[in-house]
Amino acid sequence: MEKVIDGDEISSRVRDEVAEEVERMDRTPKLVAVLMSDDPASETYVRMKRQAADEVGIDSETVHIDPDASEDELLSTVEELNDDETVDGILVQLPLPDHVDEERAIEAVTPEKDVDGFHPFNKGLLLEGRPRFVPATPKGVVRMLREHGVDLEGQNVVIVGRSDIVGKPLAVLLLSRDVNATPTVCHSRTENLEEHTRKADIVVAAVGVPEFVTADMVSEGVIVVDVGINRVDGELVGDVAYDEVSEKAAAITPVPGGVGPMTVASLLENTVEAARLRQK
Ligand code: GUN
Repeated sequence: MEKVIDGDEISSRVRDEVAEEVERMDRTPKLVAVLMSDDPASETYVRMKRQAADEVGIDSETVHIDPDASEDELLSTVEELNDDETVDGILVQLPLPDHVDEERAIEAVTPEKDVDGFHPFNKGLLLEGRPRFVPATPKGVVRMLREHGVDLEGQNVVIVGRSDIVGKPLAVLLLSRDVNATPTVCHSRTENLEEHTRKADIVVAAVGVPEFVTADMVSEGVIVVDVGINRVDGELVGDVAYDEVSEKAAAITPVPGGVGPMTVASLLENTVEAARLRQK
């Protein structure tokens, strides 16, 4: 097995598939990003998603809302997009300003257009094992491991991080009968974390702490997936101490060029899925 799991290469294959599918559709799918932030990172993410959409032939638009505007303004914008027949997918870029209730914003998006898979209804479907929109990062992680030739069935996968958008949904996805892995979710209160990670066949780092997972925490031959995107002194650094961990790993995802592009590709898949759903 190749040591480096190349997210750029694998995601480019996924995007080619999406482009072919878009070409076969009667109508061009449309994705709208709602951006209520002037954080450069959020602006960059939205720009990357739209550029990727453009490259596969998906129409896209960004609706900017002033970060000082009211929550009501955000909610009414989302309502309009829900009712807009030309719009297939809506994503509200997170994080939102402190005065806006994030849950309320997520729940405002109609589940049929919730391409992030963050609405409680879509989370429920995933939990029930009949997923509609699987959150993009967990979906991308599973896809990239499969494409790299990793058989997840029966594997002990230790996820470090229990976030609502990565850790938790990834655990549920791994548990599904489509994947049949054995997930363990660790977090900041887990005792003897390294005892868990050392037993893992696969470690997924999604804590948001630069270089949190070190070589002493993993066993020889482990497969490591790094979901972290941290900016340290102007450079992008993952949640894994890449150089030392890669010496022990059988396979590992880099940052950048690992999970990030897979997340974007999965969002495009979800957008096509949303357009198909609405066609029915
Ligand atoms: N902020 C960080 N990750 C995500 C994501 O996957 N979707 C949205 N909408 N916002 C995010």
